[in-house]
Amino acid sequence: MIVAPSILSADFSKLLDEVREVTDFGAEFLHIDVMDGHFVPNITMGPVIYQSLKKKVNAVFDVHLMITDPLKYAKSFVDAGADIITFHYEAVDDVLSTIAEIKKLNVKVGISIKPNTDVEVLKEYLPYLDLILVMSVEPGFGGQKFMPVALGKIAYLAEKKKKMKYKYLIQVDGGINIETAKLCKDVGCEVVVAGTYIFKSQNRAETIKELMNL
Ligand code: DX5
Ligand code: ZN
Repeated sequence: MIVAPSILSADFSKLLDEVREVTDFGAEFLHIDVMDGHFVPNITMGPVIYQSLKKKVNAVFDVHLMITDPLKYAKSFVDAGADIITFHYEAVDDVLSTIAEIKKLNVKVGISIKPNTDVEVLKEYLPYLDLILVMSVEPGFGGQKFMPVALGKIAYLAEKKKKMKYKYLIQVDGGINIETAKLCKDVGCEVVVAGTYIFKSQNRAETIKELMNL
Protein backbone atom coordinates (compact mmCIF):
# COMPACT_ATOMS: atom_id res chain seq x y z
CA MET A 1 0.00 0.00 0.00
CA ILE A 2 1.30 3.44 -0.92
CA VAL A 3 0.75 5.91 1.91
CA ALA A 4 0.00 9.55 1.15
CA PRO A 5 -0.07 11.75 4.27
CA SER A 6 -2.26 14.81 3.76
CA ILE A 7 -0.32 17.84 4.97
CA LEU A 8 -3.61 19.57 5.73
CA SER A 9 -3.41 17.98 9.18
CA ALA A 10 0.28 18.79 9.75
CA ASP A 11 1.55 21.55 12.02
CA PHE A 12 2.26 24.33 9.52
CA SER A 13 4.55 26.17 11.94
CA LYS A 14 7.08 23.38 11.36
CA LEU A 15 5.99 22.00 8.04
CA LEU A 16 9.39 20.87 6.77
CA ASP A 17 10.04 18.78 9.91
CA GLU A 18 6.55 17.29 9.74
CA VAL A 19 6.93 16.32 6.13
CA ARG A 20 10.46 14.96 6.53
CA GLU A 21 9.31 12.83 9.41
CA VAL A 22 6.50 11.10 7.54
CA THR A 23 8.60 10.53 4.44
CA ASP A 24 11.49 9.17 6.53
CA PHE A 25 8.99 6.74 8.05
CA GLY A 26 8.19 5.42 4.58
CA ALA A 27 5.39 7.51 3.09
CA GLU A 28 6.06 7.67 -0.66
CA PHE A 29 3.52 10.35 -1.56
CA LEU A 30 2.84 13.74 -0.05
CA HIS A 31 -0.80 14.68 -0.49
CA ILE A 32 -1.46 18.40 -0.94
CA ASP A 33 -5.06 19.54 -0.58
CA VAL A 34 -5.79 22.69 -2.53
CA MET A 35 -9.16 24.31 -1.82
CA ASP A 36 -10.42 27.54 -3.33
CA GLY A 37 -13.43 28.43 -1.17
CA HIS A 38 -15.60 28.03 -4.26
CA PHE A 39 -15.57 24.42 -5.40
CA VAL A 40 -15.50 23.51 -1.71
CA PRO A 41 -16.45 25.64 1.31
CA ASN A 42 -12.90 26.02 2.63
CA ILE A 43 -9.65 27.72 1.61
CA THR A 44 -6.32 26.01 2.16
CA MET A 45 -3.08 26.42 0.27
CA GLY A 46 -1.55 27.35 -3.05
CA PRO A 47 1.71 26.39 -4.75
CA VAL A 48 3.92 28.62 -2.57
CA ILE A 49 3.30 26.34 0.37
CA TYR A 50 5.07 23.36 -1.12
CA GLN A 51 7.51 24.81 -3.65
CA SER A 52 10.04 25.46 -0.89
CA LEU A 53 9.70 21.85 0.31
CA LYS A 54 10.27 20.31 -3.07
CA LYS A 55 14.08 20.34 -3.07
CA LYS A 56 14.29 19.22 0.55
CA VAL A 57 11.89 16.29 0.55
CA ASN A 58 12.04 13.04 -1.33
CA ALA A 59 8.42 12.20 -2.16
CA VAL A 60 5.91 12.21 -4.96
CA PHE A 61 4.07 15.53 -4.68
CA ASP A 62 0.46 14.50 -5.11
CA VAL A 63 -1.64 17.63 -5.62
CA HIS A 64 -5.40 17.31 -5.14
CA LEU A 65 -7.09 20.31 -6.72
CA MET A 66 -10.48 21.00 -5.18
CA ILE A 67 -10.90 24.12 -7.27
CA THR A 68 -13.37 25.37 -9.84
CA ASP A 69 -10.93 26.09 -12.64
CA PRO A 70 -8.08 23.55 -12.53
CA LEU A 71 -6.62 24.43 -15.93
CA LYS A 72 -6.21 28.06 -15.04
CA TYR A 73 -3.81 27.13 -12.25
CA ALA A 74 -2.35 23.78 -13.28
CA LYS A 75 0.88 25.24 -14.62
CA SER A 76 1.64 27.13 -11.39
CA PHE A 77 1.15 23.92 -9.45
CA VAL A 78 3.45 22.03 -11.80
CA ASP A 79 6.09 24.77 -11.71
CA ALA A 80 6.05 24.57 -7.91
CA GLY A 81 6.87 20.86 -8.04
CA ALA A 82 3.71 18.79 -8.45
CA ASP A 83 4.33 15.28 -9.79
CA ILE A 84 0.66 14.38 -10.03
CA ILE A 85 -2.20 16.80 -10.63
CA THR A 86 -5.63 15.51 -9.72
CA PHE A 87 -8.69 17.53 -10.66
CA HIS A 88 -12.35 16.97 -9.89
CA TYR A 89 -14.69 15.47 -12.46
CA GLU A 90 -17.45 17.74 -11.12
CA ALA A 91 -15.39 20.90 -11.71
CA VAL A 92 -14.88 20.72 -15.46
CA ASP A 93 -17.01 20.65 -18.60
CA ASP A 94 -14.58 18.87 -20.86
CA VAL A 95 -12.81 16.04 -19.08
CA LEU A 96 -10.79 14.81 -22.06
CA SER A 97 -9.30 18.16 -22.90
CA THR A 98 -8.52 18.80 -19.22
CA ILE A 99 -6.61 15.50 -19.11
CA ALA A 100 -4.78 16.38 -22.34
CA GLU A 101 -3.83 19.88 -21.16
CA ILE A 102 -2.46 18.62 -17.86
CA LYS A 103 -0.47 15.90 -19.63
CA LYS A 104 1.15 18.57 -21.79
CA LEU A 105 2.71 19.94 -18.60
CA ASN A 106 4.67 16.69 -18.23
CA VAL A 107 3.07 15.47 -15.04
CA LYS A 108 0.86 12.56 -14.18
CA VAL A 109 -2.84 13.26 -14.29
CA GLY A 110 -5.53 12.09 -11.91
CA ILE A 111 -9.27 12.58 -11.65
CA SER A 112 -11.36 12.58 -8.50
CA ILE A 113 -15.04 11.95 -7.84
CA LYS A 114 -17.10 13.12 -4.89
CA PRO A 115 -19.15 10.65 -2.82
CA ASN A 116 -22.38 11.35 -4.74
CA THR A 117 -20.83 10.95 -8.18
CA ASP A 118 -21.36 7.64 -9.91
CA VAL A 119 -18.07 5.94 -10.78
CA GLU A 120 -19.38 4.89 -14.19
CA VAL A 121 -19.16 8.49 -15.42
CA LEU A 122 -15.41 7.85 -15.63
CA LYS A 123 -15.70 4.87 -17.94
CA GLU A 124 -14.62 6.55 -21.16
CA TYR A 125 -11.65 8.29 -19.51
CA LEU A 126 -10.08 5.29 -17.81
CA PRO A 127 -7.46 4.57 -20.50
CA TYR A 128 -5.97 8.06 -20.23
CA LEU A 129 -5.58 8.41 -16.47
CA ASP A 130 -2.58 7.84 -14.21
CA LEU A 131 -4.58 7.98 -11.00
CA ILE A 132 -8.19 7.88 -9.87
CA LEU A 133 -9.06 9.37 -6.51
CA VAL A 134 -12.25 8.10 -4.92
CA MET A 135 -13.42 10.54 -2.25
CA SER A 136 -14.72 8.81 0.86
CA VAL A 137 -15.86 12.08 2.46
CA GLU A 138 -17.35 15.27 1.04
CA PRO A 139 -14.26 17.25 0.02
CA GLY A 140 -13.57 20.33 2.08
CA PHE A 141 -12.29 19.32 5.49
CA GLY A 142 -10.04 16.84 7.22
CA GLY A 143 -11.24 14.74 10.12
CA GLN A 144 -14.54 13.48 8.70
CA LYS A 145 -16.02 9.99 8.84
CA PHE A 146 -15.35 7.46 6.09
CA MET A 147 -18.30 6.86 3.73
CA PRO A 148 -18.59 3.20 2.66
CA VAL A 149 -20.01 4.26 -0.72
CA ALA A 150 -16.37 4.53 -1.80
CA LEU A 151 -15.85 0.77 -1.56
CA GLY A 152 -18.06 -0.24 -4.48
CA LYS A 153 -16.38 2.40 -6.65
CA ILE A 154 -12.91 1.12 -5.79
CA ALA A 155 -14.00 -2.43 -6.58
CA TYR A 156 -15.38 -1.29 -9.95
CA LEU A 157 -12.14 0.50 -10.82
CA ALA A 158 -10.02 -2.45 -9.73
CA GLU A 159 -12.04 -4.84 -11.85
CA LYS A 160 -11.82 -2.61 -14.93
CA LYS A 161 -8.10 -2.12 -14.37
CA LYS A 162 -7.49 -5.85 -14.23
CA LYS A 163 -9.68 -6.69 -17.17
CA MET A 164 -8.47 -3.93 -19.48
CA LYS A 165 -4.90 -3.69 -18.16
CA TYR A 166 -5.27 0.00 -17.40
CA LYS A 167 -2.34 1.68 -15.69
CA TYR A 168 -4.05 4.07 -13.24
CA LEU A 169 -3.46 3.89 -9.52
CA ILE A 170 -6.56 3.68 -7.34
CA GLN A 171 -6.47 6.13 -4.44
CA VAL A 172 -8.91 6.78 -1.61
CA ASP A 173 -9.16 9.96 0.47
CA GLY A 174 -11.13 10.84 3.59
CA GLY A 175 -11.67 9.23 6.99
CA ILE A 176 -8.86 6.74 6.56
CA ASN A 177 -7.63 4.78 9.58
CA ILE A 178 -6.32 1.24 9.82
CA GLU A 179 -9.82 -0.29 9.66
CA THR A 180 -11.15 1.74 6.75
CA ALA A 181 -7.82 1.39 4.92
CA LYS A 182 -8.11 -2.39 5.22
CA LEU A 183 -11.64 -2.31 3.76
CA CYS A 184 -10.30 -0.29 0.82
CA LYS A 185 -7.29 -2.53 0.36
CA ASP A 186 -9.53 -5.59 0.23
CA VAL A 187 -11.43 -4.21 -2.75
CA GLY A 188 -8.33 -3.13 -4.68
CA CYS A 189 -7.17 0.26 -3.40
CA GLU A 190 -3.47 0.99 -3.94
CA VAL A 191 -2.91 4.43 -2.38
CA VAL A 192 -4.42 5.71 0.87
CA VAL A 193 -4.51 9.36 1.80
CA ALA A 194 -4.55 9.98 5.53
CA GLY A 195 -4.40 13.31 7.32
CA THR A 196 -5.70 13.15 10.87
CA TYR A 197 -4.83 9.50 11.37
CA ILE A 198 -1.14 10.05 10.63
CA PHE A 199 -0.44 13.55 11.87
CA LYS A 200 -2.45 13.26 15.09
CA SER A 201 -1.06 9.82 15.85
CA GLN A 202 1.02 9.30 19.00
CA ASN A 203 3.33 7.04 17.04
CA ARG A 204 3.58 8.15 13.44
CA ALA A 205 6.25 5.62 12.49
CA GLU A 206 4.08 2.73 13.63
CA THR A 207 0.93 4.19 12.05
CA ILE A 208 2.59 4.60 8.66
CA LYS A 209 4.17 1.16 8.86
CA GLU A 210 0.83 -0.47 9.61
CA LEU A 211 -0.80 1.24 6.65
CA MET A 212 2.08 0.31 4.35
CA ASN A 213 1.97 -3.32 5.40
CA LEU A 214 -1.75 -3.80 4.97
C1 DX5 B 1 -10.65 16.40 2.20
C2 DX5 B 1 -9.23 16.22 1.72
C3 DX5 B 1 -8.53 15.12 2.42
C4 DX5 B 1 -8.38 15.30 3.88
C5 DX5 B 1 -8.17 13.97 4.54
O1 DX5 B 1 -11.31 17.29 1.38
O2 DX5 B 1 -9.20 15.94 0.35
O3 DX5 B 1 -7.28 14.83 1.81
O4 DX5 B 1 -7.34 16.16 4.22
O5 DX5 B 1 -8.21 14.14 5.91
P1 DX5 B 1 -8.56 12.97 6.91
O6 DX5 B 1 -7.57 11.86 6.66
O7 DX5 B 1 -8.40 13.62 8.23
O8 DX5 B 1 -9.97 12.55 6.61
ZN1 ZN C 1 -7.28 15.21 -0.63
